Amino acid sequence: MPDRFNVWATRHLPGRALERLASAPDVDLDIWSGPGAPPAGELMARAPDLDGLLCTLVDRIDAPWFDAAAKLRVLSSYSVGLDHVDLLAAAAHGIPVGHTPGVLVETTADLAFALLLAGARRLPEGERLVRAGEWGTWEPDLLLGHDVHGATLGLVGLGAIGQAVARRAQGFGMRVLGWTRSGRTVPGVEAASFGDLLDSADFVSLHVALTGETRGLIDAAALARMKPGAFLINTARGGLVDESALADALDAGHLAGAALDVFAQEPLPADHRLLRTRGVTVAPHVGSATVATRARMADLAVDNLLAGLRSEPLPQQAPPAG
Ligand code: GLV
Repeated sequence: MPDRFNVWATRHLPGRALERLASAPDVDLDIWSGPGAPPAGELMARAPDLDGLLCTLVDRIDAPWFDAAAKLRVLSSYSVGLDHVDLLAAAAHGIPVGHTPGVLVETTADLAFALLLAGARRLPEGERLVRAGEWGTWEPDLLLGHDVHGATLGLVGLGAIGQAVARRAQGFGMRVLGWTRSGRTVPGVEAASFGDLLDSADFVSLHVALTGETRGLIDAAALARMKPGAFLINTARGGLVDESALADALDAGHLAGAALDVFAQEPLPADHRLLRTRGVTVAPHVGSATVATRARMADLAVDNLLAGLRSEPLPQQAPPAG
């Protein structure tokens, strides 16, 4: 084992965790100073010298990168999702991959519920109307939305975040259905098949990882099966949804709305069709973005990194297939 480890963090992170990493006696830390994320060429150029990489979800860590990173001991991602990392290549090279589940569960569930409420009650439209000076007077039919209480929520995925959204929904007096590929059951959540969930839910919220199996899960057929007037909420990954089929379903008036924090392409281009589609509420991938949670994620990412450098078990190590 080397005396000192060469570590690169691809971004400054909120909180004090990077200071802790920098002051570790066995670490030489370099932090990319931006602007933005490092370009792919920079990531590749640094690979051969690194003992550890602390990356974010916008850094693509693919098989050629692992091939180039001959000294690497650990990869630590400041994210729960790992669809940006080729986990099979990491496993083939014997590299442990750390991520940050757990610490962001409640915060991400808060955002999912905020989007559900904002979409159902048309808050972004109301905000735009007031700011544009177009609020004439109280009107009997101004911005009529949809009731959340008493409605049915369908959770696609019942991991920790899906379960946390279920708890919020129960507090709002919703009926909660849930589907998982594993058939997991959760108290207070009615187990449903994927098709029955789409048939019955007024709000469908996505809480599965993006993998080869889930990419495009919400395709034109799934959207067509959703209840007329239903809403789609996505705080997981944009690649789960066929966005052009979603825009078609909204334009056709089949769905009432979609509230989206994640997109197939991020940042979402300003001329993207979804931004011109009626009923779409958007956020810029901020599911875990609170001061406290982003600091907790940084602490966990640093703990994962230090453990991997020192050949210790990572506090949160991803399974080889994600
Ligand atoms: C955010 O999307 C994350 O994966 O942490």
